[in-house]
Amino acid sequence: MAKFQAPKGVSEYFPPNSKYFEFVRSVLIQHATIAGYEPIELPVFEDTEVFTRGVGESTDVVSKEMYTFEDRGGRSVTLRPEGTAGVMRAVIEHNLDKGQLPVKLCYSGAFFRAERPQAGRYRQFYQVGIEAIGCDEPELDVEVIAVADSAFKALGLKKYKLNITSLGDSQSREKHRKDLVTFINGLKLDEATQKRAELNPLRLFDDKREEIQSKMKTAPILLHYLNASSREHFEKVKTHLEKLGINFYINPKMVRGLDYYTGTTFEFEHELLGAQSGIGGGGRYDGLMKSLGGGEVSGIGFGIGVDRVLLACQAEDVLPEHTNRLDLFVVPISQSAKDFGLNLISELRKLGKSCDLAYGNKGLKGGMKSADKRGAKFALVLGDDEIVSKMCQLKLMSNGQMISSTLNASELAQKIGSFQ
Ligand code: HAM
Repeated sequence: MAKFQAPKGVSEYFPPNSKYFEFVRSVLIQHATIAGYEPIELPVFEDTEVFTRGVGESTDVVSKEMYTFEDRGGRSVTLRPEGTAGVMRAVIEHNLDKGQLPVKLCYSGAFFRAERPQAGRYRQFYQVGIEAIGCDEPELDVEVIAVADSAFKALGLKKYKLNITSLGDSQSREKHRKDLVTFINGLKLDEATQKRAELNPLRLFDDKREEIQSKMKTAPILLHYLNASSREHFEKVKTHLEKLGINFYINPKMVRGLDYYTGTTFEFEHELLGAQSGIGGGGRYDGLMKSLGGGEVSGIGFGIGVDRVLLACQAEDVLPEHTNRLDLFVVPISQSAKDFGLNLISELRKLGKSCDLAYGNKGLKGGMKSADKRGAKFALVLGDDEIVSKMCQLKLMSNGQMISSTLNASELAQKIGSFQ
């Protein structure tokens, strides 16, 4: 029978690498948590309109990449291609914005885009995201950027770059849009490009084709159209970033792939990832809530691609050799030792020590090989002699040192602890 394969272009993680994926994800979540972002768990599919209205019809994400289907009740649903629109739907539905502001939320999970798969670009991928909803001040923009930056730094990443720009408020954008449309109308464009430009003229800055890029070289730049308040907001963001020692580059032609952005927008790029260099990005989306049927409530957030951050960590070789290392691996060499060992590891686990047993009657040699393969800190060979004498020898795997102990869970836990 033919073997099944995972669907094309999905990212999968299994041992031994899955622990690194989980490590990266947990560091990202931890940095959001210590900054006061609370977890939110959302459906992986939503009413399609949440995304068409929220993310925007001019985007590749909505026009080409959504997994949309009719459910059994004839409703059009879509696997979430991103997190922000769904978070805003939930905030509106559950009145989360009616309490203390800002509402600070953090999510993590799988997202789906029908893109052409390549290294670092998947059809099912993972993000950790945060959203801070309901406050307009530039300090919050800086906090969001700083959460991502501190997580990258904690992982040991160095070869990444933060690009920022401002899309200004609606008044600034309106003024710019007029001039940009006039400029674009003077260009000779194919019909599809013309259509995209009508939906969102900024998209042409993001067009990868050489001929469009050269045509857009002299196009009016939004950053030059910011009114006084938008300019002041952006200046404050830059000043605070400098004060926090976060390096950034102003990239006035940066266009994010989603239409809801306003004001400060940013992208983190990693030098060693080639074409799929974006490891995370985000910005303000002050009109999104309204466009989804809510009030005039502002927001800012980011989405970090966990798959790509893992690739970046591997490229920079900064992952710790062992993550979630086993404290102790017990190798029983008789049936009564196995029975005893089962009890012992259960007691040790209650004391917070991670431990495992050599299942599968491996004997002494095979058991010790497993202890080594599992990267355990200590191994404990258990035979009838140990059980009778109630004494044992803990082997420190890094250097072979033997440490005597009684066969008592608390003493063993304490001895293991003293080497951590
Ligand atoms: P995004 O830039 O579309 O923003 O995605 C965020 C990150 O997800 C990207 O920087 C990238 O690392 C990762 N990513 C996106 N597509 C793929 C893919 N096909 N394969 C692997 N990784 C991918 C958003 O999704 C916004 N919701 C972020 C946001 C939150 N803005 C405000 N709040």
